[in-house]
Amino acid sequence: MEKIPLIIDTDPGVDDALALKIAFESPLLDIRMVCSVAGNVSIDRTTANALFLTKKYGGDIPVARGSGSPLSRAATDASSVHGASGIGNYVIPEHGYKLDSEDGVESIYSALRTVGKPATLLTLGPMTNIATLLSRHPDAKGLIERIYAMIASVDGTGNITEYAEFNAYCDPEALDAVVRSGIDVVFAPMHLGRDAKLSQKDIIEHGRGSEFGGMLAKIFEGYRDDAAGEGYVAMYDANAVEAIIRPELYEFVRCTAEVDTGEFPGRTFLRPNENGRYHYIDIKDVDRLAEAMLEDMFPR
Ligand code: RIB
Ligand code: CA
Repeated sequence: MEKIPLIIDTDPGVDDALALKIAFESPLLDIRMVCSVAGNVSIDRTTANALFLTKKYGGDIPVARGSGSPLSRAATDASSVHGASGIGNYVIPEHGYKLDSEDGVESIYSALRTVGKPATLLTLGPMTNIATLLSRHPDAKGLIERIYAMIASVDGTGNITEYAEFNAYCDPEALDAVVRSGIDVVFAPMHLGRDAKLSQKDIIEHGRGSEFGGMLAKIFEGYRDDAAGEGYVAMYDANAVEAIIRPELYEFVRCTAEVDTGEFPGRTFLRPNENGRYHYIDIKDVDRLAEAMLEDMFPR
């Protein structure tokens, strides 16, 4: 079966780290590069986390440093959830991995141009890099088959504020630009992170004996997402990956997309509509999905 050429944009982030592991383990994906973006924590930290996780668990995949701040707003962060480092209390050991590029947007553009057919983008953080790419290189739109994005909420509710999901809130102008571009976007909206929560004990149990599993206790020590509750992980980002590799586990709901960049920045509405240009995913069977996430994170 032909692999799916994929570019990943991420702000690791504890749930990003778990989602990346699922992506790295999948035989269905041809991951062309990983680009960091500021989001959960600063660009320095998300880049350090993306570099280590990708090189150690993804292999020889290029890693680039992306945008350090939103298009036009002050940066915010979610260190209260993910810890100051972005990956809880885990301390990245000394390593010799080197960043492949300091200009993530240009690296995404060149990666798209080398694939030879439209590629899939997986975005796990704010949309700053993608909006910048489309503004600098309008022809990039034709090089992108579809974007699977963990971002937004369907009903104008939020997790970083009462009305905005974190990735949308960080850079609403960037999300609005991507939505207006007309690129096919599949949204993995906020409520899925709460529906698909995994117990930290189960994840550690499945990872027992593996190097990545050995990181988890420290990662979870410094992580807490109130949406998931004590001892759980809200698997926001993993839903966007699973929608690519196991689409049968989701309903794909055709919808319109609205992004507020004014009074309630980052507020979004994804309204079911047969004539909508986009889709959002909804989980068919939460228990089956939880099993799949654990299987895919630690394939036997
Ligand atoms: O709202 C959840 C999203 O914000 C996830 O991508 C999480 O990693 C944070 O970036
Ligand atoms: Ca993320």
